[in-house]
Amino acid sequence: MTPSSIVKAYTLVSGRSMPGFGLGTWQSEPGIVGQAVKDAIALGYRHIDCAAIYGNEPEIGAAFSSVFTDTDVNREDLFITSKLWNSKHHPADVEPALQQTLSDLGLSYLDLYLIHWPVVLTDDGSYLPLEDVPISDTWKVMEECVDKGLVRDIGVSNFSVQKLKSLLETARIKPSVNQVERHPYLQNQELIDYCKKEGIRLTAYSPLGTSATKFANQEAKPILKDASINEIATKHGATPAQVLIQWALECDTVVIPKSTKLHRLKENLEAVTKFKLDADDVAKIKAIDEHTRYLDGEMWCGEGSPYTLENLWNEEHIIKTATDEL
Ligand code: A2P
Repeated sequence: MTPSSIVKAYTLVSGRSMPGFGLGTWQSEPGIVGQAVKDAIALGYRHIDCAAIYGNEPEIGAAFSSVFTDTDVNREDLFITSKLWNSKHHPADVEPALQQTLSDLGLSYLDLYLIHWPVVLTDDGSYLPLEDVPISDTWKVMEECVDKGLVRDIGVSNFSVQKLKSLLETARIKPSVNQVERHPYLQNQELIDYCKKEGIRLTAYSPLGTSATKFANQEAKPILKDASINEIATKHGATPAQVLIQWALECDTVVIPKSTKLHRLKENLEAVTKFKLDADDVAKIKAIDEHTRYLDGEMWCGEGSPYTLENLWNEEHIIKTATDEL
């Protein structure tokens, strides 16, 4: 039995199944990403998370094409996600953006298409307030893309409880997924509870704390080096990355660690079967929550922007609670 056959799967709004473990491709460099995707699929990965803005969809598409030609893995065996970029929220731009992604990936449909951020940009990179291109208008076209069979499930990314609530007020098709940063330093129980109540599956991106990039919060400490995570890893003869992945799986979140290195692709997939966390481990991990983000959204809050960290994350109450407890 390959690990992929015992990866948990979740039923989405469409009634279709989503594997609880997949491969992230943000920052997977062109020239390398295609081989990484082929390696991952050969190892047993069946869920690949993409996005137009990652700039690597054509190479990933070429990798899919060679997998479908050269191996027994078919399109229907894979769960493939992509995301609508911030400059394509205008209703007239949504389907063309999806068609471009389908063409780049060489596919006739996506399993899941997400609104990447609750942030609107123009093509030249200027900001527009959300009120100018409301999410509800963008969502209507996302729904039409489901009707046309271009995508099976639709969802969002980087959405707060408040923004999900407002989307649900007008949505004809409920979002299947909210993909957000999540790891033990950002456990976000409120969002987890809300998504669970509404039947929205939460996908955890940057589950390993991502790598330091120009986008990442430079002050955040690397979670792979966390003392409690390392202690738990040693206890189980596992690696820190495997502890983080197993924790995400046990929280019933979908987890999409990124790597382009064969040995890490293997290590990360093996986390699925290697061990289970015990009550003591779970308590230790609960205690290291700091509510800190690596991808804190500062990049959307530049000069002249209508976006602030407050109106992006809608978490004043959580931040206040943390401060009050100091
Ligand atoms: P690389 O692609 O060179 O393997 P996240 O999924 O949280 O964004 O984290 C991705 C980062 O973590 C990348 O820098 C990736 O580097 C690195 N990474 C992926 N798997 C592992 C692992 N098993 N151990 C350590 N680092 C890892």
